[in-house]
Amino acid sequence: MKFDTPAGINPIDRQNVIGRPQDRLDGPLKVSGLAPYAYERHDVAPDAAYGVMVGSAIATGRIVHIDAADAEAAPGVIAVVTAANAGPLKKADSHTAKLLAGPEVEHFDQAVALVVAETFEQARDAAKLVRVDYAPGKGRFDLAKEKDGAPLSPDGFAKAASKAGDFEAGFKKAPVKIDQTYSTPDQAHAMMEPHATTARWDGDQLTLWTSNQMIAWSVRDTATTLGIDKSKVRLVSPYVGGGFGSKLWIRADALLAALGAKATGRAVKVALARPQIYNNTTHRPATIQRIRIGADKDGVIDAIGHESWSGDLPGGGAEIAAIQTRQLYGGANRMTAHYLATLDLPEGNAMRAPGEAVGLLALEIAMDELAEKVGVDPVELRIRNDVQYDPEKGPSVPFSSRKLVECLRTGAERFGWDRRNPKPGQMRDGRWLVGMGMAVAFRGAPATKSAARIIVDGKGRVTVETDMTDIGTGSYTILGQTAAEMMGVPLDHVTVNLGDSNFPASSGSGGQWGAASSTAGVYAACVAARAAIAQKAGFNADDADFVDGHVVAGNRRVKLGDAAGPDGVTVVDQIEFGDLSKKFAQATFGAHFVEVGVDVETCEVRIRRMGGAFAAGRILNPKSARSQVIGAMTMGIGAALMEELIVDTRFGYFVNHDMAEYHVPVHADVPHQDVFFVDELDDKATPLKAKGVGELGICGAGAAVANAIYNATGVRLRDYPLTLDKIL
Ligand code: MOS
Repeated sequence: MKFDTPAGINPIDRQNVIGRPQDRLDGPLKVSGLAPYAYERHDVAPDAAYGVMVGSAIATGRIVHIDAADAEAAPGVIAVVTAANAGPLKKADSHTAKLLAGPEVEHFDQAVALVVAETFEQARDAAKLVRVDYAPGKGRFDLAKEKDGAPLSPDGFAKAASKAGDFEAGFKKAPVKIDQTYSTPDQAHAMMEPHATTARWDGDQLTLWTSNQMIAWSVRDTATTLGIDKSKVRLVSPYVGGGFGSKLWIRADALLAALGAKATGRAVKVALARPQIYNNTTHRPATIQRIRIGADKDGVIDAIGHESWSGDLPGGGAEIAAIQTRQLYGGANRMTAHYLATLDLPEGNAMRAPGEAVGLLALEIAMDELAEKVGVDPVELRIRNDVQYDPEKGPSVPFSSRKLVECLRTGAERFGWDRRNPKPGQMRDGRWLVGMGMAVAFRGAPATKSAARIIVDGKGRVTVETDMTDIGTGSYTILGQTAAEMMGVPLDHVTVNLGDSNFPASSGSGGQWGAASSTAGVYAACVAARAAIAQKAGFNADDADFVDGHVVAGNRRVKLGDAAGPDGVTVVDQIEFGDLSKKFAQATFGAHFVEVGVDVETCEVRIRRMGGAFAAGRILNPKSARSQVIGAMTMGIGAALMEELIVDTRFGYFVNHDMAEYHVPVHADVPHQDVFFVDELDDKATPLKAKGVGELGICGAGAAVANAIYNATGVRLRDYPLTLDKIL
């Protein structure tokens, strides 16, 4: 089905099942430990051997020699795999660095060997006996040093640069100017489930039970890397313990497990140890951002410029931190640019809301600075600069829906923003300096093609099959809700099977496109299933409705199972998006509000209250959507106050490579979070009129914290994380 005109009234609008706060279908399995994760597939690989990765001890240079004799002689060891004996491997385009080093080393903890043994403990012990002689090279590890003269990034997910009007001229003549530089550190996904894979070869057919967000991409890249046909690779990833972008592509665990299984003729499991994840896999690159805003005395923007510098390995891409500045606020004269320095740190790549998450950390402080300079309330300043069309392209490209002003007004009212004193350092509660801050949330809302299979059996039970993943987001539930609504059955009559490349290819989970795209794919398959069932039961497909477990037209009413017949009905269809995304700008919006306390002696920051209002099209499941937003807001607290990979600029690695040293917020750091969804149906987004909300909540949340700290203390911080030493 092609979606290229605004959605009309359709069965989804009934909202018998969709739009309701449903518990997760996979919840009981997860909390009872019965949901099998990739490393636990004893059911499919009872005889699996254990592989342990050896990571490079240098960041850049060459492997001169690997001596694996002692490891091979150690108890229980079955094989040691290195680039020297693995056979030819090709780097897939998705990967900037190779998943197995040799002879060149591209980054610290890049895999150099896999030791496979009968038990995990034997493999771990033997891994320490692998001796690697290196010829270290000279690396570039310091963004601040390497950024000068860095060229524009190659175009990637977004164009490297954009322009409209004449920024320099507009900025020059503006009566009020902001010109500031902000910085954000390298950050780690720090998901709960480590990267893990169980691999098994059956002849020339490879199966990977792995933890992955994008099944079809990963089948493709596995095939490319191993030089085999895609049809010879099956990927299975029904449960994922968090991804946040780190599992968009296969990582070393998947390749090493496949190579280990090939070398031993056994199933092999590989999990990256927690300390390996930070340097072996990807991270969100650090940024240095310069923002210039030229406005009139009322704070109305005429010129806005956002430049961002980040670094990556040769062949990599930029953190696209200026991307929201292209669409968020009005102003005739505009420019954005992403510059890319070469760094020999581990591969930089997508982490939750790549671009906006750190771009708004900077932009929304700049807006707070502008608000103060012109003496306009920060909420009112955003309202004055709202624009209902893409400001780079002009009024001919309106937003498909944009309720930012509603979010600002509703959010401010729910939070009690009117109690804020605009003058910093005026509110006190015992030893706490108290302040309030706000920031806008903005995240692009792409939709992408997605297929599903619908099976309706003779009992009227509905099964959904698609390779869509559930990375803790609630995919099982919203896809079940979609099928239940469309086929007119209660949710407990629907079974949802996900995360298997044997199923039709979905959008996968990434870029906040998963929910909107994959539910649209299930919608399309359900439309086809309804037509097939109606025809089979002798209904005119245009007249037949599917409701209350029946197919109904006029006064004829047939049970769904009877209409499907004893053999049932199976259909596959996919949603494809036409050019609505070119005619309309598509994004989600919100407003964050934060109250902090800053200890007057130690400058410790505590979040006291946090709330926000969000507009993201139809909210498919208010319960799981709220969970997404509070999780993302929590990441915003982390980005503001604690998350930072510390770079050892001598040797080129992240020093704090575990959960004890890479700090993320815990329950004690997070107060009650009030999440309000503004009513919105976006009929130009998807047939379900939904846009997705997975990444919106992180966007801007940290800047609201920064602005609250300023309001509490009068100290303006522009270098994240905002640790107490910087406030003192
Ligand atoms: Mo998201 S960072 O595209 O998983």
